[in-house]
Amino acid sequence: MKTPKSLGFATRAIHAGQEPDPLTGAVTVPIYPTSTYVQQGIGEHKGYEYSRVSNPTRARLEENLAALEGGVAARVFASGMAAINAIVSMLQSGDHVVCGNDLYGGTPRLFNQVMANFGVEFTYVDTSDPAKVEGAIRKSTRMVYVETPTNPLMRLSDLAAISSICRRKRLDLVVDNTFMSPYFQQPLSLGADMVVHSTTKFLNGHSDGLGGVVVCAHQEHAEKLAFLQKAAGAILSPFECWLVLRGVKTLAARMEIHDRSGRIVADYLSKHKKVKAVFYPGLSDHPQHLLAKRQMSGFGSMITFETGSLKNANTMLKKVRVCSLGESLGGVETLISHPATMTHAALGPKGRKAIGITDGLVRISVGIEDVDDILDDLDQALNAI
Ligand SMILES: Cc1ncc(COP(=O)(O)O)c(C=O)c1O
Repeated sequence: MKTPKSLGFATRAIHAGQEPDPLTGAVTVPIYPTSTYVQQGIGEHKGYEYSRVSNPTRARLEENLAALEGGVAARVFASGMAAINAIVSMLQSGDHVVCGNDLYGGTPRLFNQVMANFGVEFTYVDTSDPAKVEGAIRKSTRMVYVETPTNPLMRLSDLAAISSICRRKRLDLVVDNTFMSPYFQQPLSLGADMVVHSTTKFLNGHSDGLGGVVVCAHQEHAEKLAFLQKAAGAILSPFECWLVLRGVKTLAARMEIHDRSGRIVADYLSKHKKVKAVFYPGLSDHPQHLLAKRQMSGFGSMITFETGSLKNANTMLKKVRVCSLGESLGGVETLISHPATMTHAALGPKGRKAIGITDGLVRISVGIEDVDDILDDLDQALNAI
């Protein structure tokens, strides 16, 4: 039985695609570690032929994630980057894409250093201003690619405004929703055509596997992406699919704690004398706080703050004990990172300067530990500056 769309988010997370196994009644989806499937005769099979094309564990995860984002279908890939690669692989030489200028660093690396070699063109604009998006559109533009909030500067883009431009110009709007998860932001309901996630982050939530997903509003995109899974083969393994199926069951509960603690940590940082600036959409002085309240149902747990210099950032990052210094985000553990030398190193000093990523910036993904322990840890680390 399909899980009805009318059910609440937490219920869908636990039950959509996660119905008990019809063979045994097992309450968790079985992992099907098989490369192929026995056929009864030529062209006679149970819907599965080869696991690059389809796998029952993967099919269950795709059903679940489509239900959470409100799409017609979802396709999962070996990583977030593989999912983004599949999206831009739907384009052709000569096509043009308008993108945010403050994306996760790996995304412009793929666009500029791989896709540009195949004749796809990219223009980077500040998508927090919809007029700039519209101004960059050319005759050859096929897609607008947006991340909101951005990584690491937490700038927002008005999805309803950008999607109405895309509709008018007949372009596809793609939104990277990794930072918010479908629990706090539903871009398809605001008019986006595709949503992409690094499932490595909040959807899996336990920092124990990489993955990516594209959730589609239109069957046509879902079919093209299924073809790309088969043709290019960057699919998610049944084991990793199972990890996401397990992780997503607690997504609603985790996001509530991430959000609650995120607000507390952002408030604390904004009052700390060693912190020069805090970037968090939940703070009332964030320039797009009102848009955040309108477009998202929570503010999440991603916070970036300015320590003033590379030396200050390094001093505090060496001192943290509860927070783990490392790339990535969205895990149950608090992860703290240095964008200039980690996620955004590929942009180079010029590229970082152009969008305001300084050497003193530190990004924190607030986990679900006891928030007082996170605050104490940050306090002793910041006071070492
Ligand atoms: C916003 C965002 N999108 C995409 C990616 C790429 O995902 P993955 O590392 O799973 O390839 C990341 C990775 O950090 C990210 O932060």
